[in-house]
Amino acid sequence: KILILDFGSQYTQLIARRVREIGVYSEIRAFDITEEEIREYAPNGIILAGGPESVTELGSPRAPKCVFELGLPVLGICYGMQTMAEQLGGAVEGSNKREFGYAQVRLDVETALFKDISDHIDHDTGRSLLDVWMSHGDKVAQVPAEFSVTASTPSCPIAAMAWEEKRFFGVQFHPEVTHTLQGQRILEHFVLDICQSERNWTPAQIIEDQIARVREQVGDRHVLLGLSGGVDSSVVAALLHKAIGDQLTCVFVDNGLLRKDEGNQVMETFSQHMGVRVIRSDAEDLFLGKLEGVADPEDKRKIIGNTFIDVFDEQAAKIDGVDFLAQGTIYPDVIESAAAKTGKAHVIKSHHNVGGLPETMKLKLVEPLRELFKDEVRKLGVELGLPYDMVYRHPFPGPGLGVRILGEVKKEYADILREADAIFIEELHNAGWYHKTSQAFAVFLPVKSVGVVGDGRRYEWVIALRAVETIDFMTARWAHLPYELLEKVSNRIINELSGVSRVTYDVSSKPPATIEWE
Ligand code: XMP
Repeated sequence: KILILDFGSQYTQLIARRVREIGVYSEIRAFDITEEEIREYAPNGIILAGGPESVTELGSPRAPKCVFELGLPVLGICYGMQTMAEQLGGAVEGSNKREFGYAQVRLDVETALFKDISDHIDHDTGRSLLDVWMSHGDKVAQVPAEFSVTASTPSCPIAAMAWEEKRFFGVQFHPEVTHTLQGQRILEHFVLDICQSERNWTPAQIIEDQIARVREQVGDRHVLLGLSGGVDSSVVAALLHKAIGDQLTCVFVDNGLLRKDEGNQVMETFSQHMGVRVIRSDAEDLFLGKLEGVADPEDKRKIIGNTFIDVFDEQAAKIDGVDFLAQGTIYPDVIESAAAKTGKAHVIKSHHNVGGLPETMKLKLVEPLRELFKDEVRKLGVELGLPYDMVYRHPFPGPGLGVRILGEVKKEYADILREADAIFIEELHNAGWYHKTSQAFAVFLPVKSVGVVGDGRRYEWVIALRAVETIDFMTARWAHLPYELLEKVSNRIINELSGVSRVTYDVSSKPPATIEWE
């Protein structure tokens, strides 16, 4: 396994995912980890990741000294390379000019890290060239005495460095991003050949390990899970069912703000097909009643979240002898809340988890996905036999259609929106576009716009369509859907749904627009 030390870069999680894609477990820890903690984790190698600070500034973060004394291979990426150079006797040069984007590095000296890797040959020197992605201001100006410079570009003469005997390597560019074409092979060289890590991080193995852990934690006691139909809680349900069978009870709350047929699909998959015990609570009236007259988006979110907890509590109270609450917390949540505690986080998402419940009911938490990234959770879901369409479904916000009906939520609006959304999603599937977008949905605009039917003018509601492409949901581009597809969706919505006279397509990017409309 690999240890990744975080200096605050947005790319750190990506490095961890890439290492795991190779089949090797990796964990992200803060740069100020102690020697004892490293020894306890017992990695095969250490990656020093990037960071936003400057090595040249006083008080900027450093790797613990022991990182270079444990006899382990070390790979420094970007800031990680710079701090390695500085800590081992080299020099880093500050700069307020950033080099950002594509670059071509020339491999000057043979090194295990770039063995047999090449994108092009430089005709003048006969050396290999690599297409890479750069994102840095500072750079290494002088390598420590024992290191050689292994790659260079005209603007960055020390683009990579190595001390082969010690197995210390540094790269200024980012092998973890796909723009670095051979980046994955470079990481494979480090993780497999240089660190000699074992390739045992596979969905089947993860499931086996987690089942054993859950059984040990839970024993013969009972676990409660809030099932939402989303990927994470679905995978937790499937995993726990496999691990502890009837000791698991799920509560599924239908708040009246779900997508078309969602409630029935959840019941069919879990209750009918898999035999999971699921209590369904149809609480549409309760939710819509509480939302009556409320137009402010944040107020709506709070009401939906609080009402959910009330309903869940009420259902849970009916079940005897529950000791554990299962949650679909995943690794990015863990990293974010750890970063939030140390004040290193830039963005924190507010999750609408079952807050408050563990304390009031004195429940212990079962979180079998705590170590997993979303793509790993999906692979686990498939391995556990969940339907592909459920596992690879677009994300859906906790407040559901509540934040896709602008202003006050009414049943009439929700019913129209559900149908419009279903038509849009169905046509995206038919056209092969669903999986090319990251999130797509319809939005209900409570304004009346004119339409002509026969000889008469009709004033009806407006539906907006939104489809975006994104990797991390922090930034997003509107999907360039074909006009024919948009035309078909629009025709169907207007013709099939009475009450809608106009359909528009949202062409706003995030930022400054957000993905949801509220
Ligand atoms: P925005 O609209 O902030 O959305 O660009 C980014 C991602 O977060 C989802 N989202 C939410 N998820 N509760 C949730 O569970 C919420 O209140 C909420 N608001 C936005 C949104 O669907 C997108 O995937």
